[in-house]
Order: sequence, then structure tokens, then C-alpha cells
Amino acid sequence: MAAGVAASSVHILRAQPAQKYKTALIGSGWWGMNILRTAMEAGQSKVVALCDVDDNQLNPAAAEVEKLSGDKPNKYKDYRELLDKEKPEIVIVATPDHWHALAMIAAVKSGAHVYVEKPISHTLNEGRAMVKAARANNRIVQVGTHRRASPHNRSGMEFLKSGKAGKIGMVRAFVHYPGGPGRPSPESDPPQGLDWDMWCGPAPLRHYNRAIHPKGFRLFLDYANGQLGDWGIHWLDQILWWTDEKYPRNVYSTGGRFIKKDSTDAPDTQVATFEFESFTATWEHRLYAGNEAEKTNIGAYFYGTEGTFHMGWLDGWTFYPADKNKPVQHEDAKLNNPDQQNIRELWTDFLQSIKDNKPPMCDIEIGHRSTSMALLGMLSYKLGRSVQWDGEKELIVNDPAANKLLSRPYRGPWQYPQV
Ligand SMILES: NC(=O)c1ccc[n+]([C@@H]2O[C@H](COP(=O)([O-])OP(=O)(O)OC[C@H]3O[C@@H](n4cnc5c(N)ncnc54)[C@H](O)[C@@H]3O)[C@@H](O)[C@H]2O)c1
Repeated sequence: MAAGVAASSVHILRAQPAQKYKTALIGSGWWGMNILRTAMEAGQSKVVALCDVDDNQLNPAAAEVEKLSGDKPNKYKDYRELLDKEKPEIVIVATPDHWHALAMIAAVKSGAHVYVEKPISHTLNEGRAMVKAARANNRIVQVGTHRRASPHNRSGMEFLKSGKAGKIGMVRAFVHYPGGPGRPSPESDPPQGLDWDMWCGPAPLRHYNRAIHPKGFRLFLDYANGQLGDWGIHWLDQILWWTDEKYPRNVYSTGGRFIKKDSTDAPDTQVATFEFESFTATWEHRLYAGNEAEKTNIGAYFYGTEGTFHMGWLDGWTFYPADKNKPVQHEDAKLNNPDQQNIRELWTDFLQSIKDNKPPMCDIEIGHRSTSMALLGMLSYKLGRSVQWDGEKELIVNDPAANKLLSRPYRGPWQYPQV
């Protein structure tokens, strides 16, 4: 008996080690390192290289990788050189948004499977080109909308799809952050070790400002799409996950910078409406007036004939039945540290998809559609009028001025990806 146990332990010890994919990270900032730590923890990655245009981000990241895994990644400031020399099998793209398309497309062309952050693109046609590149090169591309992998979002979605909230006619998604006017921050020389020209890349070259990098680009429209592109895409993605419809047919957004006095230029107040065939969805955000007046500051309310369902983040989901005699139902969130996310679950799905050669949970097409909703909201906001969306052709109906905004000129020598 004892011998039998010993024999089977030996068998376990001799089992094939999990395959280790040559893994590289492009953009070794806050979120990129959250993903890479998860990848190392999953035990199927050998970190061969890191790329960042800022040594102040790159060097600590490389030191941390070595400490955590023993891997000694080569360091690059140009992702093209990294792809060329290292030929990684998996690439994580966690740069600011304006770089996602070029980096992801180059990575799949070089033969890598990619985990790319949300929003997948800065303009809509970049997203279409990304989907095409993933398909043409037959690579798995997972988008970092980890809320599709969160246990409470999954059970909440099951609840909604099973009809327990009744027929839903309206969805309201929102994020309200505390804050206020803020203060302008001065332009300055870029810090030593940062290649600012390369950071700006295909986007306009602005003067360096600490408010933009690291992390602050979200609220600068040259590099991102404000709160709608940053937070909005997560919740718009939940709406598209729930509905059988693939896209809205009309989009209108309004808002402005009524409060902010800092150096950012994204709207501090915004409302967007998305008209679907069978329901209306809205997005709202404000970056001030954080208070206790509202039950929650984040998530999406689904309003149905049987009650109101709140899909939240830290607070899980809650269903408030229309019939007051029925109990409120609730499920807590199950989130990972740091930063209360479910990257681990999404990474597991990514590895499984690579193994089985099947589309992942947040396939690039899904990420493209959710990103498109956010970008259409921003497009309407910039135009100051509503747009009618032909989601099959991915064109705005009878509106050449609006269609022009589906792409944007790139700063040379960078070239807009071919759609
Ligand atoms: N899924 C989520 O919940 C989630 C959460 C946070 C951030 N994000 C996304 O992750 C991305 C990164 O955000 P962040 O907060 O980590 O920003 P960050 O500023 O901390 O990191 C971005 C890094 O990319 C580097 N970079 C810029 N251009 C580069 C290039 N050409 N090549 C290589 N590196 C380059 C920057 O120097 C910086 O270090 C964004 O797209 C953001 O939307 C997703």
C-alpha cells in the first residue's frame, strides 16, 4: 500500500511540466505588470522580454520579474525589435490606447497570440483592422475585459439571460467619481529615460506633462477616449454580453467640461444613449460630486418587468424584485488582488483557447464591438449630433463627416493599419 502511494507520487512528480510559452510584455506600467504577474503565477510563461519606452517603468518591471520568477527578460524600447529578435509565442499589449492597434497587429503578424488591453483601439477602423489581422494570422487574441470572467458577473448574466428580471426595456450604465476642478499641471521636459516621441508614436506629439504619463493619458483625447473609453467599455461590454443584438442602431452623446480646470481635456460630464431594436441603453459619468446620495457609483442597472438588477463591481450583483413581497437577491463579488480584478480567470481561459485553438471568452471581435460602442459615443460627442450606425458595414449612414472620424491621420512615419 505504502509502496503503491510512493509509486503514484513518483508518477506525479515525473508528469510532463506544463508547456512554457515564451512571453513578452509591451507596456510595462501599472496594468501590464498586473497581467504579467498573473501570467507568471499561472506557471506556463517564461518571460523572455519586456518593452517600454520609459526606463523608469521598464527597469523596475524587469527587476520584479527576475525576483518573482527567476527569468531574466531582455529589455527593449521598440516593440518591433523585440518581436523580431525574440519571436515570443505570447505577447501582452498594455500600452496606452493609441498604441494598441499597431502593437497588436505587429505581434500577431510575428506569430504571437495576444492578450490586448481594452479599449482595443483609439478609432473604430483600427479595431476592424485588428480583428482582420487576428483572423488572417490565425492567432488567439484575448481582450482584457476581465469582467466577463468574474464569477459574480457570470452568475448575474445567467440570472438575466434566464429571464428572472423579466423583459428588460432599459439599461443604465454609469461611473461617478469623486473629485473636482483640480489644477493645471505644468508642461516640462520629459524625465530622463523616457522616449517621449516614441510614447506619442502615431498620435499627435504634445509637450510632455506629468498629467499624461504614466497613467493619466485616459483623460487626454489624443491618446484615449476619456471615461467612456476607459470605464465605459467595461459596462457597455456587459450590455452586449447580455443582449442578442450585436450593436446599437443610433447613438447620441452630450456632455462637456463644466467643472474640471486641470490639464486634461476629456469630458468631466457625459451622457450617451444607445438605441437598440428592443431596448435603450444609456451611459453616464461625472468626475465630481461623489456622495452617498446614490446607492452605488458604478455598474449597470437592468430594468425589467420583474424587477431591477444591478450588476456591480466591488458590491457584486443585487436584484430588487418588482413584487415587494419577494426577497432581494444578492451575490458577492469574488475578486483578486491587487486592484480587485479577475485577470487570473481570463488568463486561464486565454491559455485554454491557445491549447484548444478555439476563440477565447473575450475574443477580439467581441472586444471590437464593445470598444465600438464607446468610440461611437465619443464620436457623437465630438460631432455634437446623433449618428445612425450600420453595424454590418461598420459605417455611419449618410454622413461623410462622421465617417471621417472612424479613422484619424497618423503622425509619420507611422501608418494607419489597413482595414
Ligand atoms: N482591464 C482593465 O481593467 C484595465 C485596468 C487598467 C488599465 N487598463 C488598460 O491598460 C492599458 C495601460 O494602462 P496603465 O494604467 O497600465 O498605464 P501606464 O501608463 O501605467 O502604463 C502604460 C505603459 O506603456 C508604456 N508605453 C507607451 N508607449 C509604448 C510603446 N510604444 N511601447 C512600449 N511601451 C509603451 C508607457 O511608458 C507606460 O509605462 C490601457 O489601455 C488601459 O486602458 C485596463
